[in-house]
Amino acid sequence: MKNELILTRPDDMHLHLRDGDILAAVASYSSRDFGRAIIMPNLVPPVTTVNAALAYRDRVMAVVPATDDFTPMMTLYLTEATNPEEIARGFASGAVKAVKLYPAGATTNSEGGVRDIKKVMPVLEKMAEIGMPLLVHGEVTDPEIDIFDREAVFIDRVLDPVRRALPELRVVMEHVTTKNGVDYVKSADRGLVATLTTHHLILNRNAILAGGIRPHYYCLPVLKREKHRLALRAAAVSADPRFFLGTDSAPHPIFAKESPCGCAGMFTSINTMPILATVFEQEGKLGQLETFTSLNGAAFYGIAPNSAKIRLVKRTRPQIWPNRISAGPDEIMVFDPGFPVFWDLDRHKRPATLQKEATS
Ligand code: DOR
Ligand code: ZN
Repeated sequence: MKNELILTRPDDMHLHLRDGDILAAVASYSSRDFGRAIIMPNLVPPVTTVNAALAYRDRVMAVVPATDDFTPMMTLYLTEATNPEEIARGFASGAVKAVKLYPAGATTNSEGGVRDIKKVMPVLEKMAEIGMPLLVHGEVTDPEIDIFDREAVFIDRVLDPVRRALPELRVVMEHVTTKNGVDYVKSADRGLVATLTTHHLILNRNAILAGGIRPHYYCLPVLKREKHRLALRAAAVSADPRFFLGTDSAPHPIFAKESPCGCAGMFTSINTMPILATVFEQEGKLGQLETFTSLNGAAFYGIAPNSAKIRLVKRTRPQIWPNRISAGPDEIMVFDPGFPVFWDLDRHKRPATLQKEATS
């Protein structure tokens, strides 16, 4: 059995780093294990201008250890007041890679998002023209629609009509959570890809609700039935270039999760790579891990894969992570996959040494 794996350094194509104390607490876990990350703009206030994105990028880099080779790829938060020229300027500068569409009210800090898709069509037209990706939180917010159906209804009511109107638009269905979403992505021969999170590959909705309510497993889109989880896993290990990793690691203080109205999100950047090695091994597809974590996302964003390598080693004892980390006066719970993880990211060797080994 394989107990060592050398891969191209991965990228996290959907990441929440937050700001202030939380940013300072979590950023180094991403910069340690990933070469680049697509940084979500749902701060308070949201990142809606190029200047705000550049300032945020500086705040991220200020807390990334100087020894880590990490590039934050910034995004802008789409509002009904977004100016097409502003997003085009950000894209042309190279610092802003994409625009994020949050339906208003769909998730954390999405109140400033989009209520009526028609109002943002001029921005989407501009994006289609310049090839700038649109990252969608694919859920409707209509209170009539059951929360477990919101992704499927979004595809029918919003995403498909937009893609038909603008066939050149490049769309990422972020954190796809249903078989409907996977099938929709597979049905498109161009212009549509999807990110998959670590947690949606591992958990189904029983994790939140069976045997007691577990707020640390609450996220959005909410975990779905087992048949959906199986479809996501099949997509992840398939090597289909349309599916790649976006952890959606979304840290919240423990008090905000363990509350009568708890926040959505799990903090997974700290242990994602060892957990994913376990998932791919469970599927008998360890050989496809690199495609999912390090190649497909880069290809979509038109960037070369990272030149550095990482080494995953299968230990004889399960990994032990802290179950929480400090963030200023608060603490953040670390994601618990619920099974033992024997894979470990060997962080003792320098990337250059690994690069030599991998090519020898
Ligand atoms: O679980 C989630 N947490 N899903 C999202 O869409 C947003 C994120 C957050 O920012 O907390
Ligand atoms: Zn997210």
